[in-house]
Amino acid sequence: MNNKNRELYNKLCVSAEEAISNIKNGDTVILDMGCCEPRGIERAIVNNYENFHGVEFYQMIVCGETPFANEKFKGHFKYNSLFASSSNRKAIALGYADYTPCFFYEMPEVIRDIIKPRVSICSVCPPDENGYVSLGANVDYIASTIDYCEIKIAQVNKHVPRTLGGAIKHISEFTHLVEIDEELPEVPSIPLTDIEMAIGKNCASLINDGDCIQLGIGGIPNAICAELGHKKDLGLHSEMVGDGVIELIESGVINNSQKNIDKGKTVVSFCFGTKMLFDFIDSNPLFEVNPIEIVNHPLTVSKIDNFVSVNSCVQVDLMGQVVSDSVGYTQISGVGGQVDFVRGAALSKGGRSIIAMPSSAKGGTISKIVAVIDEGAAITTSRNDVDYIVTEYGIARLKGLSLKERAKALIGIAHPNFRDALAEAYEKRFNQKPF
Ligand code: COA
Repeated sequence: MNNKNRELYNKLCVSAEEAISNIKNGDTVILDMGCCEPRGIERAIVNNYENFHGVEFYQMIVCGETPFANEKFKGHFKYNSLFASSSNRKAIALGYADYTPCFFYEMPEVIRDIIKPRVSICSVCPPDENGYVSLGANVDYIASTIDYCEIKIAQVNKHVPRTLGGAIKHISEFTHLVEIDEELPEVPSIPLTDIEMAIGKNCASLINDGDCIQLGIGGIPNAICAELGHKKDLGLHSEMVGDGVIELIESGVINNSQKNIDKGKTVVSFCFGTKMLFDFIDSNPLFEVNPIEIVNHPLTVSKIDNFVSVNSCVQVDLMGQVVSDSVGYTQISGVGGQVDFVRGAALSKGGRSIIAMPSSAKGGTISKIVAVIDEGAAITTSRNDVDYIVTEYGIARLKGLSLKERAKALIGIAHPNFRDALAEAYEKRFNQKPF
């Protein structure tokens, strides 16, 4: 770094304790998420919890435990999740944490105009010669939030990759920098099951050479990646990616050559993987990590021809209503970018959206295709938005189908053990047998 930037850097660098002393009682704080969660600074806050009263934290997906969503911090911290995960589902269900539903592309605006945090805390990589840092694997809602928070704190961590695109900030944009090097939390790919492989095959059959894809969260995306090896000239424009895409990019299957925007570049908003992925995206000029309000905006997606979005869900009823983020009353995840991409894909010339899921849950004891969704569950993708539903038993394209046609198509891809019961429900509802 040149002298001027070095001087500034030294001035901004403080201990975690000094940085967090800026948080006042009653403050609202927005935290970076996922693999770039600023864990070092979070630890300092938790260790000093008795100094804080009524401080509310907002954060999206976390990889490990959510430190603040704990009954013991009652009165000190409130935790508000923008995407529940296994680490805070229980806390939300028991009421000592809360969940805020919000389309991902709208999140930066909702945070700025309604939630109005005064403090932001994120992770960045060490500065370059010119004093520029990168937000690394996560740009999502945090990049624009930093622009307007009064207090902007960053954990400078040498393990954060230097990603390009909207991730770059100058050190002068921060109030305090805290040097804490620690490995980033990793999200390893789980070995694929036969069911996931079959789903991957069915989804891959709907993806043509030259299409641009988005892959959602959960077990299905890697199964799809495993089936795309023989495709050509794919594009990748996705809210998130995991390790599964590395091979496809390295082998040239994904080359982004047909994209109408960002030609030649993979564009995402956050990365959810292991060190292999962090190393791959580090200073990679063909890989951009950009703000969520741009990446996920249905109008951005609409500009890319032949866009195929692939997401997963918990339940689909016979009308094609898709439940993806709750199991009954239990909030298990969030809407994330599912609807952003379903709608964007619908607006794209030649675009289509896929909701892919195993036909059953809990070891085959529960059908995910149901006559009526569970009490308390929230509809994520409406029956008006839904397009393809895929299970290991096949593909049902619901768009343009009537209620009866939809129900029949869905019974046809349900697990065979549940088809009779679904057929009975059809008969009860429509006063006729389905087949
Ligand atoms: N009834 C009861 N429980 C069910 C169920 C059903 N119909 N379907 C799933 N579950 C349970 C699973 O058993 C599992 O429980 P466990 O954690 O106690 O084992 C839990 O719900 C999660 O299901 P699983 O199949 O393991 O999830 P996944 O990791 O494959 O993710 C979604 C699937 C739907 C949760 C995930 O894709 C999601 O959150 N989607 C919504 C957001 C989205 O699509 N965003 C786009 C990009 S971020």
